[in-house]
Amino acid sequence: MEHKIRYLKTNGYVGFDSLPSKYVRNSVKNGFVFNIMCVGESGIGKTTLMNSLFKTTFESDQDIYYCNHTTLKSDSYDLKENDVRLKLTLCDTVSYGDDMNKQSSLKAITDYLDKQFELYFQQELSLKQQISKFQDTRIHVCLYFICPTGHGLKPLDLICMKKITDKVNIVPIIAKADTVSKNELQKFKQSILRELRNNSVRIYNCPLDEPSVTQLNHELNSLIPFAVIGSTDFVEIDEKFVRARHYPWGTVEIENESHCDFVKLREMLLRINTEDLKEKTHFLHYELYRKTELEKMGLTDLDTENKPVTFRQMFENKRVHLEQELAQSEELLRQKFELKIKTLQETVNRKDDAMMLKFRRIEDELMVIREKLEKERKKLNEEIIDFKKLATQHKKMGSSHNLLFFVG
Ligand code: GTP
Repeated sequence: MEHKIRYLKTNGYVGFDSLPSKYVRNSVKNGFVFNIMCVGESGIGKTTLMNSLFKTTFESDQDIYYCNHTTLKSDSYDLKENDVRLKLTLCDTVSYGDDMNKQSSLKAITDYLDKQFELYFQQELSLKQQISKFQDTRIHVCLYFICPTGHGLKPLDLICMKKITDKVNIVPIIAKADTVSKNELQKFKQSILRELRNNSVRIYNCPLDEPSVTQLNHELNSLIPFAVIGSTDFVEIDEKFVRARHYPWGTVEIENESHCDFVKLREMLLRINTEDLKEKTHFLHYELYRKTELEKMGLTDLDTENKPVTFRQMFENKRVHLEQELAQSEELLRQKFELKIKTLQETVNRKDDAMMLKFRRIEDELMVIREKLEKERKKLNEEIIDFKKLATQHKKMGSSHNLLFFVG
C-alpha cells in the first residue's frame, strides 16, 4: 500500500500571504484607470497644470474653443511609467462660465457626471456582464480651479461645487498662485474654506485612518485648497532643468514646495490617495446614484416594516406589488368599459323609443289620410254612377224629342 501513495510537488510557495503580491502583479499587468475632471474658466491654467502633472503635452483641439456654451471634452491617454500602465481620462470643461445662462454650464457638468454613473450602472444591471473589460469612465476627482482674486469664491464657483458635492470628490485649487502674495494666500485660503463650510459644500479630505499615511494626509489636508502654478517651460537652475515660470524679476519653480503646493497636490492625487479617491467614487458617490436610481425603479432594501430584505425578496415584493397594481387597473378599466357600454345602450334605447313613437304618429296620420281618401273615392264613385244614370236618361229623352220634331 505504502509505495502506491503519490507525492505531489508544489510549483512554489502556497499560502494566502502571497495574495497581495499576486494582486499587485495582476493590477500592474492590467494597468490602472484614473479619471480627472478639470472645472474652471477659460485660460485659468487647466491644460498647463495637467501637462505639468503628467510631464507630457496633451494635445487639444483648438476648434472647440469657439463654442459659446459649456462643453465637456474628454480624452483618454495610455501612459506608461516603469512598466506600470495608466489609462488616464482627462475631462475638460470648455467655455465654462462664458454663457450668459450659468445654469447651462452647471447642467453640462452634472449631466456628464451622471452619464458616467449611468453607463456603469447599466453595465452592472446587464445580464451579459463584462465589468472587468468595461472602461470605467466615472470621474474619480474634480479639480476645481479657483480664480486667484485674493477675495473669495465667485457665486458660480459656490453654486457649481454645491451641485456636484454629492457626485464627485472635489479638490479645490487656487490657480496661477504666483499672482497672489504669501500673506494674501493664507487669508485667501481661509476665506475659501469658510465660504465652502457656510454653504455646506463637502470637499475631498484625505483619509486619516491609514496609520502609514496619517501624518502626511494631515499635512495635505492643511494645504487644501492647494495653491498651484503650472508651466510647460524648463529653466536651468543649479545645472538642472526644472519646470518653472521665468519673469523679469525672478523664477518661480513649480516643484519647489516653498513656491507652491504643486508637489503636494501631485503626491495627494497620484501617489498617496489615488486608491482612496477611486474607492470614495465607487462606495460613496456611485452608491448614492445607484440607490437613487433603484428607488426610482421602485426597489428598496427595506420592507414595509423597515426590516432589511434580500434582493430576491425585494424583487418578489415588487413583482407582487406590480401584479396587484395591474389587476387593480384591469378592474378599473373593466368597470369603466361596462359603464360606457351601459350608457351607450341606454342612449340607443332612448333613440329607439323616440323613433317608434314617431313611426306610430306617422302611421296614424297616414291612416286618417287613407280613410279620408276612401270616403272621397266612394263619394266620387257615387257621383259617377249618378252622372251615368242622368246621362242615360238624358240620351233617351233626347232621341224621343228628335222623333217628335221630325214628325212635326
Ligand atoms: P482653456 O484651454 O482656454 O480652457 O484654458 P486653460 O484653462 O487650459 O489655460 P491654459 O493652460 O491654456 O493657460 C492659459 C494661459 O495661462 C497660458 O498662457 C499659460 O501659460 C498661463 N498659465 C498657466 N498656468 C499658469 C500659472 O500657474 N501662472 C501664470 N501666471 N500663468 C499660467
